[in-house]
Amino acid sequence: MSRDRRTAPSTAKPKGRSAAALTAVAALAAALLTVLGTAPEGAVAADAGNPYAGADLYVNPEWSGPALAGGAPADLAGQGTAVWLDSIGAIEGSGGMGLAEHLDEALEQRASAPSGELVVQIVLYNLPGRDCAALHSNGELAPDEIDRYRYEFVDPIAAIIARPEYADLRVTAVIEPFSLAYLPDHVSPHPGGTPQCDEVLALGSYQEGVAYAVAALADAGVHNYVDAGGHGLLGWSDATPFYDTFGNAARLYATIFDHGAEPGDVQGIAVNTADYSPLEEPYFDADDVVSGVPVAQTFWVDFRGYVDETPFALDFRDRLVAEGFASDLGVIVDTSRNGWGGPDRPTRTSASTDPNIYVNESRIDRRQDQEHRCNQVGAGLGERPQADPIGDPRLHAYVWIKPPGESDGPHADNDGGFGSICAPELGSLPNSPPAGAWFQAQFEQLMVNAWPPL
Ligand code: BGC
Repeated sequence: MSRDRRTAPSTAKPKGRSAAALTAVAALAAALLTVLGTAPEGAVAADAGNPYAGADLYVNPEWSGPALAGGAPADLAGQGTAVWLDSIGAIEGSGGMGLAEHLDEALEQRASAPSGELVVQIVLYNLPGRDCAALHSNGELAPDEIDRYRYEFVDPIAAIIARPEYADLRVTAVIEPFSLAYLPDHVSPHPGGTPQCDEVLALGSYQEGVAYAVAALADAGVHNYVDAGGHGLLGWSDATPFYDTFGNAARLYATIFDHGAEPGDVQGIAVNTADYSPLEEPYFDADDVVSGVPVAQTFWVDFRGYVDETPFALDFRDRLVAEGFASDLGVIVDTSRNGWGGPDRPTRTSASTDPNIYVNESRIDRRQDQEHRCNQVGAGLGERPQADPIGDPRLHAYVWIKPPGESDGPHADNDGGFGSICAPELGSLPNSPPAGAWFQAQFEQLMVNAWPPL
């Protein structure tokens, strides 16, 4: 297989530095693009290998329609969000737009995009034994159905994207959220271990599936970002009294190269997918010490080496490069719901001499626990999608992978079985619909608590 298709498609156009924040307005029925801004001219080094650089983002009408109807201002409803392929049926559409329809629509948007380039973001979310850790979003494939994953899911996706008519689109893919990142700490004998994750690890379902997906999609010209969880999940190193989750995860990720993937198949990693962790905690740090006690020992920090996402993401990316990933590996961060603005946002560092109070009064992330990630109360929209947001070539873009307003999972009363993880006792908004369904109350909260404010 060819392994050299990761770099951004060559184009005669000069690439702009910022630009990717989507500048289109989507009307309810999928609409014409309206220019709100254009990409500055002039090539910069950071653009190398970054498919988001100098491009606009595909506006998914299946998100922008409900967003607009749900009260979003036009520029908000015109933001780019990812298209989730969460079942074999989703490829053809199962009631909604299929992948080919999205790409056809993307060609039309590209024709009027200010930059002349368009990035279409897809998510593959259908591994065998999906969601073995939280178990609230299990998929259609059993842990041993790797061949169905390969031949009925990945191959048809790759075949559609590889059609000649789509050659001018830049397609990025987030490969399998809630999978590899959960294996280090959710298998025996760890306290969070589940029999389902034990089985998936023993079968190699996730490593094989991710390896197959990145290899097949890279051949179709896709820029792959392998999901890498986040600091709340992998932020423990061997400097802590616990496990070296960070290092164990990095070594596990590198095993995809024993299963048929090559470093050139992976453009980068995706962090904070469908999660709520802030890019930066402005008012305290992981290594602060209060009254002689490291804040690492507080309930909130719980011995993690990180309290926010950007430092974790860049460190984990560097560690993956050390483990054999490509030296130009990039990072994208899902900022769709990590804003934490609104009236309850702290405005300064706490003066408390009690380490727990200090952390709780200082942190902008107002969840009960950093591992709670179902429809969280108090969250707001985060940074709008943007390429090269901090001028560090490793950080390719802020992106909206989880379409804000779509539920993470059902409240127990709405769907017997999987509801417990989405219960109000865990900080979830009540009465949520099933995963992926529009959740108007959440969308309204996300707008009110947006940071930066709308
Ligand atoms: C759900 C998918 C949905 C996606 C985006 C996931 O949690 O399982 O069905 O498409 O979120 O909202």
